[in-house]
Amino acid sequence: MTKIKACIFDLDGVIVDTAKFHYIAWKELANEMGFDFTTEDNERLKGVSRMTSLDILLSIGKIEKSEEEKLAMATKKNENYVTYILKMGPEEILPGTKEFLDTLKKEGIKIALGSASKNAMTILERLELTHYFEAIIDGTKVSKAKPDPEVFLKGAQALGVQPENCVVFEDAEAGVEAALAGGMKCVGIGNAAILGKAHLVVDGLHQMNMQKLYTLNN
Ligand code: BG6
Ligand code: MG
Repeated sequence: MTKIKACIFDLDGVIVDTAKFHYIAWKELANEMGFDFTTEDNERLKGVSRMTSLDILLSIGKIEKSEEEKLAMATKKNENYVTYILKMGPEEILPGTKEFLDTLKKEGIKIALGSASKNAMTILERLELTHYFEAIIDGTKVSKAKPDPEVFLKGAQALGVQPENCVVFEDAEAGVEAALAGGMKCVGIGNAAILGKAHLVVDGLHQMNMQKLYTLNN
């Protein structure tokens, strides 16, 4: 008897590489304030909410801003970021994603999205992937950021599946922690040294298949 009834996918870094666009937009903001922002710094923003990302950026530049100023800066960064994501198309989908989603559909496994991004709907539309997802829980629907499990628990609830019957796919350490805190199985996408707490770590969805998924039954 298989326990796995649903898969919940993080978006950024799992289905599409948006980190490069976040990086350009945050770097522009940093440069305007007179400091540099490296790709290494950008790693710290993966899986982190927009406002927390800004706080990290400001701490790197040792700059303090009022809440009002911070809101204006986050809005400006987002407007810049959105110009990049609006240019994206299905060619930006990471390798193996569509094939794996098709397999899951065929096998009757339910599919949800669990992302911190408030731009998730726009991105899914641009990638022409919206129709795969029976439930979409994004940054507009949660009040607690990963590693809190809220985003994934809401996804499971929307699908009508118990958390222990869900597998989460995540590229960020905080996301792996969120999945485990929610009582779910987790597949880490990326570096095993960072995502070691996950039940399984793969380089990308191109390495996933039903056989590997079902090893998580145990
Ligand atoms: C996460 C990204 O998925 O979404 C983070 O990994 C990003 O880097 C966060 O900060 C919020 O995204 P957005 O699109 O709402 O600014
Ligand atoms: Mg991610």
